[in-house]
Amino acid sequence: MIFDSHAHYDDAAFDGDREQLLMSLRGAGIGTVVNVGASMASTRTTLALAEKYPFVYAAVGVHPSETAELDEEGMAWLEEMCARPKTVAVGEIGLDYHWDEPERAVQQHWFRRQLRLAGKVGLPVIIHSRDAAQDTLNIVREENADEAGGVIHCFSYGAEMAREYLNMGFYLGIGGVLTFKNAKKLKEVVAYMPMDRLLLETDCPYMAPSPHRGERNSSLYLPLVAEAVSRIRGISEEEVIAAAEENARRLFRIA
Ligand code: NI
Repeated sequence: MIFDSHAHYDDAAFDGDREQLLMSLRGAGIGTVVNVGASMASTRTTLALAEKYPFVYAAVGVHPSETAELDEEGMAWLEEMCARPKTVAVGEIGLDYHWDEPERAVQQHWFRRQLRLAGKVGLPVIIHSRDAAQDTLNIVREENADEAGGVIHCFSYGAEMAREYLNMGFYLGIGGVLTFKNAKKLKEVVAYMPMDRLLLETDCPYMAPSPHRGERNSSLYLPLVAEAVSRIRGISEEEVIAAAEENARRLFRIA
């Protein structure tokens, strides 16, 4: 079944129909969801979702744009949350220079700290990197983040950067962007990368695939991404879905 490796079902965009939508997933072929924290508050709501729904797992962490809220107390709390039984990753963490807020030094500091946390507790990481290719790669290398392993979520760089991460054992998260007409670079990456490193992800409510671009996204649209991968790779949609599920279970250690 489809494994959605990156969702934000705690987002307010789902307040009107969250329960109904989540309960409809299995019938639509979506078997497992990793809900990803992006702040202290959303880490809390992510853990609550994981407690409520057997098929939902949690990633705990603070998104680069929210790192101004982090302090030592916050880090200690995140470490505690890593020990919760449904926690499978530290994320999403990283660098986002698109908004450049908070300042880069602050983002870098808490990215390093959260990478070290993942290493300490032995969980893989979910990395968000936007307009920050070289700094992300440098920090991942300097912190030996390949030991914990993880996924570069919503991968948006070219084949050369993909090779760097693949060589370190990382997975690449592929979502709705692949279906966009202007996604030439990402299509090259999907053609080039080994199938045993590909994860399917929505990043919902964001990043809805074509022809739903701009609408609220959900795991129900993931078959459109699987179809795009299958066309590029010349394999069936079922093979794509099976490989991506196996990869996600291996990375997040979900039996
Ligand atoms: Ni996300």
